[in-house]
Amino acid sequence: MIEVENLTKEYGEFRAVDNISFSVEKGEILGFLGPNGAGKTTVMRILTCFFPPTKGRAIVAGFNCFEDSLNVRKRIGYLPERVPLYEDMKVSDYLRFVAAIKGTPAKEVKRQVEKVMDDCSLSDVSNKLIKAVSRGYRQRVGIAQALVNDPEVLILDEPTVGLDPKQIKEIRKLIKDLAGRHTVILSTHILPEVSILCGRVIIINKGKLVAVDRPENLAAEGSRRMFLRINGNAPAIEQALSRMAGVKSVERELTAGEDNGFVVVFDDEKQGRQGIHSMIENNRWELLEMRTMEASLEDIFIKLVTKEEA
Ligand SMILES: Nc1ncnc2c1ncn2[C@@H]1O[C@H](COP(=O)(O)OP(=O)(O)OP(=O)(O)O)[C@@H](O)[C@H]1O
Ligand SMILES: [Mg+2]
Repeated sequence: MIEVENLTKEYGEFRAVDNISFSVEKGEILGFLGPNGAGKTTVMRILTCFFPPTKGRAIVAGFNCFEDSLNVRKRIGYLPERVPLYEDMKVSDYLRFVAAIKGTPAKEVKRQVEKVMDDCSLSDVSNKLIKAVSRGYRQRVGIAQALVNDPEVLILDEPTVGLDPKQIKEIRKLIKDLAGRHTVILSTHILPEVSILCGRVIIINKGKLVAVDRPENLAAEGSRRMFLRINGNAPAIEQALSRMAGVKSVERELTAGEDNGFVVVFDDEKQGRQGIHSMIENNRWELLEMRTMEASLEDIFIKLVTKEEA
């Protein structure tokens, strides 16, 4: 549904996007992750035909974003980073206006607008002027205008920014429900959002593509760690753990005044686990707690981004 080949964008001398290629299948939700200034918005602007790339090409729904931009724009809904809205229009009038200019058949407009107002919880403010609604509601209007023509492709630049927790949940559900029928690209800084919503994620740093994978695969790349709380002589436990076959490293974790917590990193988890069990038994120590610590997407993200910088 989306093909991006060797995309490069320069602003004057500055290269904001550097030779990025990826593709998105129909019905997929793809997440864009990257620190501030990574180039996420720039890629989205090329895909939405806001400006052409300096090099490379982008194909959306079978049409070239540069050569056939009208056909691309008919098929996409775009929530920009800063949503430009007509301040002096009422919410419902504005959405009707957008639906009409996006080519929604006249007899469908009313139904479509009611549907998106319902989906984006806007019914309360439908008669308010846009300039009079709060920031979160503005964001909802922005999402609603992107959805109103029921587009094949949705490009959402930080869709949940500025929303309250209840609304974040609802909008995430709405986006999730779009998968399958619609193809979605969204950018976000909220890492759990990526795990919740996206089938695949692209990590961009300083204009370069750093990783493309399923969120769970990215998380699995991190080391396997385990948290243990053991009653006994803490220095002796630490020493025994660090000598254990299969264990790569041990760190004491002091929480809430307790000094019997240990974080163990394995290089061979199975062997390490077995060793720990017999060690505790042989020493008559008492195991109070044992749980796996998944490397968080946050850890992976920082690791990938800092590795690139080094
Ligand atoms: N119109 C412009 N003229 C010159 N430089 C620009 C312009 N727009 C963006 N840039 C630069 O290009 C780089 C990428 O910007 P972009 O907005 O794509 O980043 P981003 O990943 O969306 O960041 P954020 O997470 O902060 O939204 C930044 O260094 C930015 O300063
Ligand atoms: Mg941005």
